[in-house]
This record gives sequence, structure tokens and C-alpha cells, in this order.
Amino acid sequence: MLRYERLANELGSLIASGTLRPGDRLPSVRRLSDERRLSASTVVQALRQLEDRGLVEARPQSGFFVRHASAPRPEPSARTTLESAVQVDVTQRLVRILQTSTRPGMAPFAAALPAPSLLPVAALHRLYAGVARRHPKLLEGGSHINMDEPALVRQLIKRSLSWGGPLAAEEIVITNSCTEALALALRAVTQPGDTVAVESPGYYLMLQLLESLGLQALEIPTDPRTGISIEALDLASRQGKVAACLLVANASNPLGSVMPDDSKRRLAKMAAERGFTVIEDDLYGDLHFSESRPWPIKAFDVAGNVILCSSFSKSLSPSLRLGFLAAGKHRAKIALQKTIISGGTNPITQHVLAEYLESGAYERHIRSLRRTYERQVAAMQDAVSRYFPASTRLSQPQGGFVLWVELPEEIDTMQLYEKAITQNLAFVPGELFSPSGMYRNCLRLNCGNPHTPEIESAIHRLGSLFSTSQDQISG
Ligand SMILES: Cc1ncc(COP(=O)(O)O)c(C=O)c1O
Repeated sequence: MLRYERLANELGSLIASGTLRPGDRLPSVRRLSDERRLSASTVVQALRQLEDRGLVEARPQSGFFVRHASAPRPEPSARTTLESAVQVDVTQRLVRILQTSTRPGMAPFAAALPAPSLLPVAALHRLYAGVARRHPKLLEGGSHINMDEPALVRQLIKRSLSWGGPLAAEEIVITNSCTEALALALRAVTQPGDTVAVESPGYYLMLQLLESLGLQALEIPTDPRTGISIEALDLASRQGKVAACLLVANASNPLGSVMPDDSKRRLAKMAAERGFTVIEDDLYGDLHFSESRPWPIKAFDVAGNVILCSSFSKSLSPSLRLGFLAAGKHRAKIALQKTIISGGTNPITQHVLAEYLESGAYERHIRSLRRTYERQVAAMQDAVSRYFPASTRLSQPQGGFVLWVELPEEIDTMQLYEKAITQNLAFVPGELFSPSGMYRNCLRLNCGNPHTPEIESAIHRLGSLFSTSQDQISG
């Protein structure tokens, strides 16, 4: 790397990480050249490169300043029409996207995964070693059917006090991941052919689960701020045809919306009155950007038919494969399903989690992780605002670390995905978030990685790809 490029990257990192903020003045050319022992022309070359990348601007007589992102982009448009229930068919397309997007060298914008550097891996390693040493009998068999390690159940109940709990020990099942929790809940409360109401746009893995279980998906309009429309759900469930509602009430994936408490209360009441089950995925509940933790719908459950599912995949490590559900009155059926499908949940991991939670380390870790995700999302929003076509709309997530982008109507993101991967750029095309194939001009971006100059440059290239396509289409 040339000297000027090294300096440009260094300053670019300070901007991306928020150390240098929009409007800040950069040190003068003379100061940079003195401090870094570089010639003035090398420093100027570095600053010009940052200018070309849209990160700084030169102001006559004053020097170089960190640029403000372009005007904030409007939020994605909310759909209002209620479609009919449809069969789901996303798996083939999705598998191909997720496979290609994880090739070495791909910009990591597809799967919603945190950067390894953000995870407390060393602490977890120490705990695994300690637990294995102190509990040698765990691998001797017998504990293979354990799905409710008391030490962990106790910690989960304690944590639930921060969001309107407590959960009851008798309703908790420890699972292999949130995905398993969702699958078990669906299997317990639906029959093939049933209709399940989902958010639109909604998380593709939930759609895949419906597909694999032969369930129909009913897309419910979802507001980018306030989540699923209670009015539409009310209308859709009037005739008793909805067996379950499967949703992410806190920091939805992909919109990042959080349902207001009143909507959560109304949904819990509606489900009790109409006899359908709410299956809520609260994976991002701890990763909120607000002052206090948003409550899950479970906190408003009056009839035991809200099933809360979650895991530690986005906060500690996706490889732990440790989740849980609080099943309300469906606990016995769910435990039976779990026994049939996977037996218990790794007992060592259950102990590791219990100790990590008990030590207070989890609380400290997520306090700083929340701020990190929030910063990364903001940096990605700035970059998208700088480089994507002028009429692009952008979500304002209230938690988590994904961003939903709505491009001009004429752009087809599934088509452009093919081109993008040839340039090592990956993302998830919008149509995979809708069983009826809406959102062809949308995409989801993972913001789980620190916003480095490499990430900035990849977003720049992705923006150019979309702008070029738009120019070609409009001739
Ligand atoms: C909303 C939501 N639920 C579940 C999962 C998967 O969680 P796990 O790794 O625990 O199966 C994800 C991962 O992206 C997610 O975004």
C-alpha cells in the first residue's frame, strides 16, 4: 500500500468509527505532514482520495472537514393492502444466495451475522474449559435429554424481570438455537395446510419453516416503525382461519421496527379471544437502541398462548446454538416435539451460559454491544445515503443490525445480485422476504461488521452498480 493510501485509510477508519464526526475539521496539511513525517503532497493526495470517496470536503481557506451524509433518506413505504394466504417457495433461491454470499472475499452484507471481533469468544472458551473440568459427568450420557438445566432456567427467569417477567420455570425449554425454538413452536400448534400470519416484509427463515411444514403464509402489512398492523391482523383473523401469528415484535428483521406496547397488548388479547397462537421471536430484544428494553408480547400474555422464542446467536455467538422458548400452555406438546427431533440440548453449553449470565458478564457485554451495533448501523446508513441512487429509501432500525433499503421501483435486486457477486458484493434480495414475491426493488444489508474503509468502499461499489442499472433502464 502506498503512503498516501495508508493515511487515507487511517483517517477513513476514524470517520467510519465515529471518532471523527460529520462537521469535524481534519488536522491541517502542515500538521499531518509534521506528525506523520510525510511530504505535504502525500498528505494532500490522501485528503483528495478521501474527498473522492465522499468522506471529506475541502472548504476554501478553512481546510478539510468530515462530510455530513446527504440529507436523511425517507423511510421505506409501508404497504397497506392485505393479500390472500399463499404457499411459500423461497428455499431454493435462498440457499443459493446464502451459499454464494459466504464465499471467501465477499463483502459481508448478506447473512445477519456479527463480526467475530464483537463476540466474547475468549471468555466463552474459558468457561467451556472450566465447566468441562468441574462437571466431568456431563458427557457420560444421561444428560443427553436435558432441556431445562435448572441453573440456566433460573438465569433466564431473572433476566425476564427486566422486561415484565417473570417467566415460569415450568414453561421453559432450552433449545438448539432460535431456529429450533421456532420450528418446535410451529409444529406444536399447527397442522399442514394451516394459515400462519407473518410480517411483510418478514424474515426469510420463518418463511422457509412455513414452507417445510406445508403451512400457508398470510402476509400482514408491517410499518417500518411500529411493526405489524394490528388492524390488518384483526381483519385477517376474524373468520378464525389464522392458526398462528409468527413475528419479531422487537427490532424486526428486516425493518428494525418495534411494536408499541399498546399493539402488543392488543395482539395478545386478540389471540386469546380468537384462539390463535402468537409465536414471537425476541432474538433482538436485548439489542435495542432505546433507553430501556422493549417488552415482548409475552409480557402481555393473558391466556398462555404467546410462545416466546430467542437465542444468544446475535449477542454471544451464532455457533453456541443455544436458544430457548417460553411455551405457556403449549409446553408439554413442545417438549414432546423436541424429544422426537433432537432429544436434549448440549448440557455443557447450558452450564456455560448459566455461568456467563450469573457472573454479570452478559449484561456488561450487551450494554456495549448495543452501542456498537447502533454506531455500525448509523455508519451504514450514512454510506448508503452517499452512494445509492437519489430516491433510495432507508429503514431507521430501533435495534439489531440489519438495514432495509428500498431502491427506485425499476431496479430488480435479484437480477442484480448475479452481477454483484461477480464483484464480491453480497446482500439479500428483497423478494426473499415476501412469499408472494413483493419487494423486488428492495434489499437487506447486514451491518454486523465494524465500518472499515473496505466496507465503505464495497458500499460505494454496490451503490454504483445500482445507479448504473437505473441509468441503463431509463435509457
Ligand atoms: C429474527 C431472527 N430469528 C432467528 C434467527 C436465527 O437464530 P439462531 O441462529 O439462534 O437459529 C435469526 C438470524 O438471523 C434472526 O434474524
